[in-house]
Amino acid sequence: MPTLIQMELSRRELLASSATTVAVAGVAKEVRAAGARGKELQNTTEVTFKVNGDPQRLTLDNRTTLLDALREHLHLTGTKKGCDHGQCGACTVIVDGRRINSCLSLAVMHDGNKITTIEGLGQPGNLHPMQAAFIKHDGFQCGYCTPGQICSSVAVLEEITANIPSHVTENLMQQATVTAEEIRERMSGNICRCGAYSNILDAIHEVAGVPA
Ligand code: FES
Ligand code: FES
Repeated sequence: MPTLIQMELSRRELLASSATTVAVAGVAKEVRAAGARGKELQNTTEVTFKVNGDPQRLTLDNRTTLLDALREHLHLTGTKKGCDHGQCGACTVIVDGRRINSCLSLAVMHDGNKITTIEGLGQPGNLHPMQAAFIKHDGFQCGYCTPGQICSSVAVLEEITANIPSHVTENLMQQATVTAEEIRERMSGNICRCGAYSNILDAIHEVAGVPA
């Protein structure tokens, strides 16, 4: 049978341990909240790049694609979202001189890059020769694939000039040339559901200065 003194001690211990439990729970809650805040902060990154010659600074969710950064954050809606899976080429832009599918690339990977979209190639009244050639040769119908087709076409001619071989380049020891086969191969990632392919080919030939 516990004495009165022993019972009093037990009661004090119980109160002390309850207070400790409440304090620990409070601290744990704070830690969880700080963790969530920290996680939130870690989920975003500041990225700076030049788009069509203009410096841009964005704080983006790390999962933002370059395509979404251009369209949703910079409101450059000329670049189109087709499949969002790297299969249609509608989202093609030029990054540091190389064409890429912007739907497959995270914006945070492009810190410091120079990005050119269809808006940067030319504007009404001051069209890029490739844009003018697409109009002249009727290289589009609905126009949805066209910004990607034009960005890709411009970069394709630069690739050939730089003597970068393609899958169909026969002689790797010689300068690559503009042929229909080379253009078809290099443009094969740009799909046109309207089927304007032959006119697109004519437009690219014209800009290259080579008869189709
Ligand atoms: Fe990027 Fe189709 S939207 S490849
Ligand atoms: Fe319509 Fe190419 S012009 S998809």
